Amino acid sequence: MAGNREFNYRRLHSLLGVIPVGIFLIQHLVVNHFATRGAEAFNNAAHFMESLPFRIVLETFVIFLPLLFHALYGLYIAFTAKNNASKFGYFRNWMFLLQRISGVITLIFITWHVWETRVAAAFGAEVNYQMMENILSNPLMLGFYIVGVISTIFHFANGLWSFLVSWGFTVSPRSQVIATYVTLGIFVALSIVGLRAIFAFV
Ligand code: HEM
Repeated sequence: MAGNREFNYRRLHSLLGVIPVGIFLIQHLVVNHFATRGAEAFNNAAHFMESLPFRIVLETFVIFLPLLFHALYGLYIAFTAKNNASKFGYFRNWMFLLQRISGVITLIFITWHVWETRVAAAFGAEVNYQMMENILSNPLMLGFYIVGVISTIFHFANGLWSFLVSWGFTVSPRSQVIATYVTLGIFVALSIVGLRAIFAFV
C-alpha cells in the first residue's frame, strides 16, 4: 500500500513538473522576452498577464500549489535518492545528479525571485520594466539571475527527458537517444530566450 502511494506521488510529481509548471515556465520566458522590444512592449505584456480574470485563482491553482508540491516532494526525492548506476550509462548518471542539484538551485532562485516581485506586488510595488532594470543593475543580482534562469531551464529540459521515460513515451534506447537531442535543443532554445530577456534589462 505504502509503495503504491509513493508510486502515485512520484507520478503526480512528474506530471506537475511539465503540466502546468513547465508550461508556465515557457509562457513566463516568452512574456519576459518582450523586454527585447523595449520597456513599453514588456510593460504591456506583463500588464496583460496581470489583468487576466480570476488572476489569484489561476496563480494559486495553476502555479503556486503545483509548484509547491513539486518542490517539496522534489526536495524529498533529492535527499533520499538512490543512484541507479547500472540502469543507464555514465552520461545519464550525471544528468540524474544534475537534475537534483538544479532542482535545489531552482528552488532558491524561485523563492527569491517570487519574494522580490510577486510578494512585493502584493504589498503595493509595481512590477514593471523599471523594477527589473533596478534589480539587474546590481552585478551580483545579474549573476544570480543568469545562474537561476539557466538552472531552471536545464532542470525543465532534462526533466522532460526523464518524464518521457517515466510515462513510457520513450522506451527503446534509440528513442531515448533522440529524446536527449530534442531536450538538449529545448535547453539551448529556451536559454537563448531567457538570457536575451535578462540582458534586455541591463
Ligand atoms: C520552474 C520550476 C520547475 C520545473 C519546470 C520543473 C520540472 C521538472 C520536470 C519536468 C521533471 C521531470 C519529471 C520526471 O522525472 O518524470 C522534474 C523532476 C524533478 N524535479 Fe523539478 N521542476 C521545477 C522545480 C523544482 C524544484 C523547485 C525542485 C526542488 C528541489 C525540483 C525537484 C525535482 C526533482 C528532485 C526531480 C527528479 C524526479 C525524479 O527523478 O524522479 N523541481 N522537474
